[in-house]
Amino acid sequence: MTDNRLMECDVLIIGSGIAGATAALQLAEDEHLHIVLLTKEQTPLESNTFYAQGGIIYKGTEDSPTQLAQDLINAGDGMNNRQAVEILSTEGPRLVRELLIDRYQVPFTLTPENELERTREAAHTTSRILHVNDATGRAIQESLVRELHAHKNIQLLTEHTAVDLLTPSHHSTDRLAIYEPLSCVGAYVLDHDSGTVIRVLARTTLLASGGLGQVYLHTTNPEGASGDGLAMSYRAGARIVNAEYVQFHPTVFYHRGQSKFLISEAMRGEGGRLLNIHGQPFMHRYAPEWGDLAPRDVVARSIHQEMLHTNAPHVYLDIASVMPASEIKERFPNICQSCAEFDVDPTVEPIPVVPAEHYFCGGVWVDEWGRTNLQRLYAAGEVSCTGVHGANRLGSASLLEGLVWGYRASQEIKRSLEHVASPSAKTIPAWASADDDLDADPALVRHDMATIQHTMWYYVGLIRSRQRLERALRDIGNLRQDVETFYRKTKLNPAIIRLRNAVLAALVVAQAAWENRESHGCHYRID
Ligand code: SIN
Repeated sequence: MTDNRLMECDVLIIGSGIAGATAALQLAEDEHLHIVLLTKEQTPLESNTFYAQGGIIYKGTEDSPTQLAQDLINAGDGMNNRQAVEILSTEGPRLVRELLIDRYQVPFTLTPENELERTREAAHTTSRILHVNDATGRAIQESLVRELHAHKNIQLLTEHTAVDLLTPSHHSTDRLAIYEPLSCVGAYVLDHDSGTVIRVLARTTLLASGGLGQVYLHTTNPEGASGDGLAMSYRAGARIVNAEYVQFHPTVFYHRGQSKFLISEAMRGEGGRLLNIHGQPFMHRYAPEWGDLAPRDVVARSIHQEMLHTNAPHVYLDIASVMPASEIKERFPNICQSCAEFDVDPTVEPIPVVPAEHYFCGGVWVDEWGRTNLQRLYAAGEVSCTGVHGANRLGSASLLEGLVWGYRASQEIKRSLEHVASPSAKTIPAWASADDDLDADPALVRHDMATIQHTMWYYVGLIRSRQRLERALRDIGNLRQDVETFYRKTKLNPAIIRLRNAVLAALVVAQAAWENRESHGCHYRID
């Protein structure tokens, strides 16, 4: 059976977080451009950006691009791309001012003197982070989405999942297309409502689909972060780099064996201290120089060790002893509210916390303008790898990277579009679905997803070894074959697309972790 729906546009953007939305808004300034921005979620608000608590790097009162660059490199264990670091450090603060503060009017928290309030997070040498209390991402995302709705030339498609990128070398009916350089001319997209697949043909495509936290058992990421962009671009032939660098956030609320929600690093930035199960501070033993504000990878591993030494399922984060209750409530209202749902009151008692997967520092290789190795395919934000984070990301650098590379990709797309023709619908066939179209069995989907999450957590987690990684490669490799067969025989739905992408994303991470025998930043091998 074939689906004949066709949509044509100038730019297709996959993902509505800070990178995708910033790019869309910049491109939309040219009224002649037709931009399609799609998200698989019910609303463009839902994205990793929405859940970012801490903030976005701006600049401190006594700060410089060189100092920020050095902090990024120290946190990244020197594995950073120096050119990308320089771009972020010099252009980032300017774009925060011009776009977020002046143009999109994000309501950043102010001091009593009406100045922008700057906070600090781990591995920063100064207070340079802007925030909106403890829900910075939400405020940024709300401002961006409001702007998106105001542009007639941005077509917002919610509940639409990209199935595969369209690459003539894989999809064209012209067999000779395999001799052309790899390029991307849009995507096959599932419309959840009708269950049909649309051929979206685009002169240029920007991937901004976020990370892959859901391939892990414990993560701070929302449901949607399942490695879709990484898997699609891998299948299309994109170069993937640094995939072993998966960052674990040290402090995620712990309740009855489960991690629940992020406890912002800004809490330690405001003086909060980690305590073991006996109420004793311990970070000074693991990182004497930094203490509780050591880089994230160091803190996450120290907590892991301390939990093992004390045979405890969690540690504590104590803010109550260092900050007055009224200030805690004012500075961290959302965290206090979320803790209250589990009968924990951060103003009077320590918060139980554990590490959980938080951010993918690797991704689709891009250059300084967000170009991938496929012609007409750009990537920005967490799905991409500019190399700016090296082996471990500095706190509050992710929103900044999404902003800077979303902006830069849009500028380069504008420049390049005049040389890019519309792809021909004649050579890209309509979507053909499998003949023995069975409904996906939800038990299989859930169990396969759980297998991925457990395997990645135990074998490709905070601490890795050859033995663990070989097990992961074998188990996930076998599962991938089963899932591909399942996918081909099953009626397409968002869950099966998610599973197919998650298993491939997990395999890409496990393979990279196995290949890299050097421990750096968040890739830590005990062998
Ligand atoms: C946090 O608030 O701790 C997270 C911020 C970030 O991931 O940069």
